[in-house]
Amino acid sequence: MTGPRQSRIPGFHALPVAERQALIADLVGLTAEERASLLSEAPLALETALTENTIGVYALPLGVALNFVINGRDTLVPMVTEEPSVIAAAGNAARLARASGGFAADADPSCMIAQVQLVDVAEPEAACRRIEQARDRILARIDEIEPGMARRGGGARGVEARVVHAPLGHVFVVAHLHVDVGDAMGANAINTIAEGTAPLLAELAGGTAHLRILSNLTDRRLARASVRYDLTDLGMAGRDGAAVAAAVELASLFAEADPYRAATHNKGIMNGIDAVALATGNDWRALEAGAHAYAARGGSYGALSTWRVEDRVLVGRIELPVAVGTVGATVDGNPRARLALKLLGVSGARELAAVLAAVGLAQNFAALRALATEGIQKGHMSRHARVVATAAGATPDQVEVLAEALIAAGDIKVERARQMLASGLRGLSAGVGPRTSS
Ligand code: MEV
Repeated sequence: MTGPRQSRIPGFHALPVAERQALIADLVGLTAEERASLLSEAPLALETALTENTIGVYALPLGVALNFVINGRDTLVPMVTEEPSVIAAAGNAARLARASGGFAADADPSCMIAQVQLVDVAEPEAACRRIEQARDRILARIDEIEPGMARRGGGARGVEARVVHAPLGHVFVVAHLHVDVGDAMGANAINTIAEGTAPLLAELAGGTAHLRILSNLTDRRLARASVRYDLTDLGMAGRDGAAVAAAVELASLFAEADPYRAATHNKGIMNGIDAVALATGNDWRALEAGAHAYAARGGSYGALSTWRVEDRVLVGRIELPVAVGTVGATVDGNPRARLALKLLGVSGARELAAVLAAVGLAQNFAALRALATEGIQKGHMSRHARVVATAAGATPDQVEVLAEALIAAGDIKVERARQMLASGLRGLSAGVGPRTSS
């Protein structure tokens, strides 16, 4: 973790981009090379953009959510997202939370699960017992396959074997290997371990190893966050804080009871988590898979967070699997991901996972508070109008005026924006600035 840093910067959104960049660079103490990388139009040199059949580099905006206090530490949160309202919403939720101390968050050790599916096993129950009795031998094999992990304080942690009854009358023995991958996301190491231990497991089971792969339901790698909003801080849209808190609780209960609502509630949470995962070079599809599987762990799909009014305080809580890394080839090979981690100033994967849980909870609060009061379209539309204005070819100094004209016309379409631009924006004048999180 790096030293204390300021995340409350009033007026930040109104600064020109170059001044925002300079301010963040000074705050975080970026090196000359890192500053140059942030200023560079190309986020990734084409020759280092490693995928199959590369033909270019695709870019998305990188922003920073302000105001976060997580475990007592001011935290600048880098976010990559195409949805204009996400960063402002997270920053607004974080600003309100500052009054009551911000977010408390923590994460389990980085324990991943390798799965080995064993088929054609004559006595599945006895095979499970044999596998579990050979625990020490299997753990030693795991640490032999990935010795670096054990040297860095991680390594093999446990073995479990289950009988799985599948469709068409099939019965499998499934071995789970628990491995602490330290500050890595760990997918590669875990898959290597699954493949490397499979012959031993097949021999112990008296069967044949079939699939050998990690599980994305990383429920031994959970992160949690909580926040307490004082009711006096929550008033909006003509309602007092108590009414807003009660409305947010009702929205939470809806998601807890109904999978159709829970899917959207959780999507709002993942808006924040994915944006930080993308910024830091992490596998957001793995996070999505883990989060939604965890949301269905009780047999029906539910909400990943809850909101309750308790003694004049609105309390939010979230728990979900967060398999992220702060080391590895993807991070090392991407200057913007390294920059994002430097902005965050996290000490490793566990602290990053805790930050993601806090950001998810903030994002969720912002969505529920808006939905339960004025609705989200008002805020969304003003930002959408700016995106439409830009897409229609407005220059930076025309965007605000054109966006307001589109909203006033009630017709936020690129075609209409082009017509307005072609007519020279005559008669239109700028009003209030954008609604943002600063
Ligand atoms: C939109 O990207 C996310 C929301 O739909 C989340 C929610 O409904 O809670 C606003």
